[in-house]
Amino acid sequence: MAHSEHIYPEFERMLGREEKERFLNQRGFVFWLYGLSGSGKSTLANALERRLHEDGVFTQILDGDNIRSGLNADLGFSDEDRLENIRRIAEVAKLFMNAGVVTITSFITPTRELRDMAREIIGSQHIREIYVRCPFEKCAERDVKGLYAKAASGEVKQFTGKDSSFEEPESPDLVIDTGNESIDESCRRLYEAVIPFLRK
Ligand code: ADX
Repeated sequence: MAHSEHIYPEFERMLGREEKERFLNQRGFVFWLYGLSGSGKSTLANALERRLHEDGVFTQILDGDNIRSGLNADLGFSDEDRLENIRRIAEVAKLFMNAGVVTITSFITPTRELRDMAREIIGSQHIREIYVRCPFEKCAERDVKGLYAKAASGEVKQFTGKDSSFEEPESPDLVIDTGNESIDESCRRLYEAVIPFLRK
């Protein structure tokens, strides 16, 4: 990779994940929510975090709009920038996971290549990818942020599902169908699905 020539990463002397997990009495893990803008990822991530918090689970959310206003404020929506966006987020999620934190990410992650990269960086035994499925038309109807209208008028370009592609997953770990079920139902199903991964 570029610029890594004289860098000597060292992890052995650091206190390891196992010690931190023991300290927190939980297992570090990443739940990677992906899907179209407005599909309900952030709503689900927040509901899941609150529910896990009530159970005494220590969590951290990484969310598209938040990360893009700070760490990734230099990135736009070209294919290249989306790749760099997801690469950095996967690295940050891995840091949290290695600190024993249950990490919930909420990013469109539109292509299989990007999802494979995230899984590769984090390690497939530490991540479950959760497809938050809602048809483009339904997201456009809801249009919570007004972005679908702006994409239609041409004010927002490279918009996912319109002029930038979103690839359906081939064999998703889990699908939450926010297009068909109520938010309460989706939250409950998501919570029940993640619980088994939190036990050691
Ligand atoms: S990703 O494709 O790189 O994974 P990410 O989840 O970080 O995207 O950011 C998506 C958020 O940025 C959307 O929820 C939306 O609020 C905002 N956004 C602004 N412009 C676009 C665009 N052209 N396409 C998609 N989302 C956009």
